[in-house]
Amino acid sequence: MEAAQKIFDKIWQDYIFLNPEVKRVYDLFIHYGEQVSNDHIAFRTVNDSRVNIEVLSKQFIDAGYEFRGDYHFKEKHLYAKHFELKAFRNAPRVFISELKLEEMSSELQGVFRLLLDILPESKTKASELLFSGNVWGKPQFSIYEKLRQESEYAAWLYVYGFRANHFTVSINTLKKLDSIQKVNQFLKENGFLLNTVGGEIKGTPKDLLEQSSIKASIGSIDFVEGAFDIPITYYEFARRYPDAKGELYGGFIAQSADKIFESTDFYKKD
Ligand code: NI
Repeated sequence: MEAAQKIFDKIWQDYIFLNPEVKRVYDLFIHYGEQVSNDHIAFRTVNDSRVNIEVLSKQFIDAGYEFRGDYHFKEKHLYAKHFELKAFRNAPRVFISELKLEEMSSELQGVFRLLLDILPESKTKASELLFSGNVWGKPQFSIYEKLRQESEYAAWLYVYGFRANHFTVSINTLKKLDSIQKVNQFLKENGFLLNTVGGEIKGTPKDLLEQSSIKASIGSIDFVEGAFDIPITYYEFARRYPDAKGELYGGFIAQSADKIFESTDFYKKD
């Protein structure tokens, strides 16, 4: 667990540095008297052999994680895998998705081909990729806008690169806020906007997993053309239920995850 913990600490520092609002969410739970444990983190990438799921998962595999399940998101042209720590089932899970480039327009493929060709080999070889963030320099707003029309996922990846897209509060370990309804109410009372795509709560106790998320915070990001307000990252909340064998379900529900992806979709804050 120690090796994995080091990786998570490093990713967490980047996550709260990029988006201080997620630390505010974390602190809210702590001030309310809760202990926050992490259900899972998520990364995004494309299915190019230089940066695909295999490359991004390497550090976790080296730290004792193993592949546990995979998921298809047809409409979003995504494929994902989830990993768990063999020796310690309660350790945070790792969820890594990749965009299937061959299913996208030639314009989008062209953008990522250019970006990947300028990626230094040292980044992918040394497994540094996981901590690299945006590796291709200041983004262009015009490209961001263009990508967004085809895939919000690709636009997010273009601006933020390789870093945690979200962390997830495990509701199972909360004492007072012990249901997803209570957690959602608590977030709304504190001024956070929930992602309501597919309803505030994705999944049911019967599915063995209930999830909700806040919409990504809006931040001012520097583009070549100047600063623009766009979504950054978000926080997710998950409650797991025991399966028929009495073991806490460890997987994901593709139908729910499909909607959670939309937490980083562009929106304007009033
Ligand atoms: Ni998630």
